Amino acid sequence: MLAEVMIARMISSLFLLMAASCQTSYDDGVKAPLSEATQMQSRGEFLAEALCSGCHAIADGEVSPNPEAPTFVEISDRDGLTRETLGDFLHDSYNFPGQMNLEVSDEDADAIAAYILTLRSADD
Ligand code: HEC
Repeated sequence: MLAEVMIARMISSLFLLMAASCQTSYDDGVKAPLSEATQMQSRGEFLAEALCSGCHAIADGEVSPNPEAPTFVEISDRDGLTRETLGDFLHDSYNFPGQMNLEVSDEDADAIAAYILTLRSADD
């Protein structure tokens, strides 16, 4: 009788152990650290929402609240646009069109440029 109870306990703790190890590997997959590029892009999206979305459509399918402001999708699809040219433009806020009366730090400019580049359509 005692032996049976012990065996039953051993079996159930074995199952618990197996369940626990499955759980761990599942968690590892979910919590895998985001790549640096992805982190930058999502920071850029956050900044674009906070700083730019008052005038520009910042996501696919949106219409710019300010009709004079091109959508970020349009900007991303411009010929010759790269993360460098866009980053440079955003770094030099004195070049901004008159209505864009704001300043962006270099770090934020890079993140926003990284985000805008994600909107580029795949076929060019
Ligand atoms: C107050 C409104 C306003 C805000 C806020 C604003 N923009 Fe603009 N932006 C404009 C307008 C209007 C134009 C178009 C001006 C023109 O074509 O003369 C423009 C143009 C641009 C262009 C294209 C410039 C070019 O070469 O034609 C880029 C890139 C841009 N904005 C990025 C941004 C980013 C990034 C932010 C947020 C950090 C931002 N804008 C915030 C109004 C705004």
